[in-house]
Amino acid sequence: MAESIYIVGMGGHARVVVALARSAGFEPIGFIDMQADLSGAAAPAAQLEISGVRVAGGMSALRNAAGPNIAIAVGDNAARLRIASEIRAEVVGARFPSLIHATAKIERDAKIAEGAQVCIGAIVCAQASIGAFAIINSGAIIDHEDVIEDGAHISPGAKLAGRVRVGRCTHVGIGATVIEKVSIGADSIIGAGAVVLKDVPANTTAVGVPVRHLPRKSADRH
Ligand SMILES: CC(C)(COP(=O)(O)OP(=O)(O)OC[C@H]1O[C@@H](n2cnc3c(N)ncnc32)[C@H](O)[C@@H]1OP(=O)(O)O)[C@@H](O)C(=O)NCCC(=O)NCCS
Repeated sequence: MAESIYIVGMGGHARVVVALARSAGFEPIGFIDMQADLSGAAAPAAQLEISGVRVAGGMSALRNAAGPNIAIAVGDNAARLRIASEIRAEVVGARFPSLIHATAKIERDAKIAEGAQVCIGAIVCAQASIGAFAIINSGAIIDHEDVIEDGAHISPGAKLAGRVRVGRCTHVGIGATVIEKVSIGADSIIGAGAVVLKDVPANTTAVGVPVRHLPRKSADRH
């Protein structure tokens, strides 16, 4: 029988994760709304149903579960890591299995850390390393010896050549291409369709072919 799993978050990425969890052999048994237990917050959207899954409650629902499996399905990279720490501190026996879609191809000597999500049709090649709570989205290619640090997100169809490093919580946009041995710092954003030929520093937004750096907006989230 499939192991049960709670899904934290109810936005667009949560829909992806419900399907991903099922494909990876888990049965999603409820969404967790992190706001639900806060005083004065609205009651959980009990009527909301996504792909047959309803809201189970807030953090208290996880505290009452025995050693729950949990997937963090929140698109904001830093928030995924923060929520994981909060849950770990409060929920005894919380487990964050990595989720690998049945159609994804992962070389045997690649490493996939806890809570990482490898989505439909993605490819992870030899000796690549995928960090905790990173997302390798649909059809992305992670080539040999790449290092994707914790909380990073490689968007659908992005292609990373060999020995690329992507820093913690960095977002590589949809369809971007990164040539071999390039290093992208933490908390950066690589735009949709970008071509990255040189290292990109931390906290940088880079767009275009080849990339140019944009002035950073204070509200930039990824
Ligand atoms: C990079 C990105 C975050 C920039 O957003 P932003 O800071 O709001 O930037 P703006 O829309 O204000 O654009 C600023 C400039 O960059 C250009 N630009 C923005 N994104 C670009 C891109 N992907 N490629 C080329 N140029 C881009 C704009 O045309 C504009 O140029 P101008 O100043 O010469 O007019 C966004 O455009 C992007 O590409 N996001 C990735 C989306 C994605 O991959 N989603 C997948 C989710 S799974």
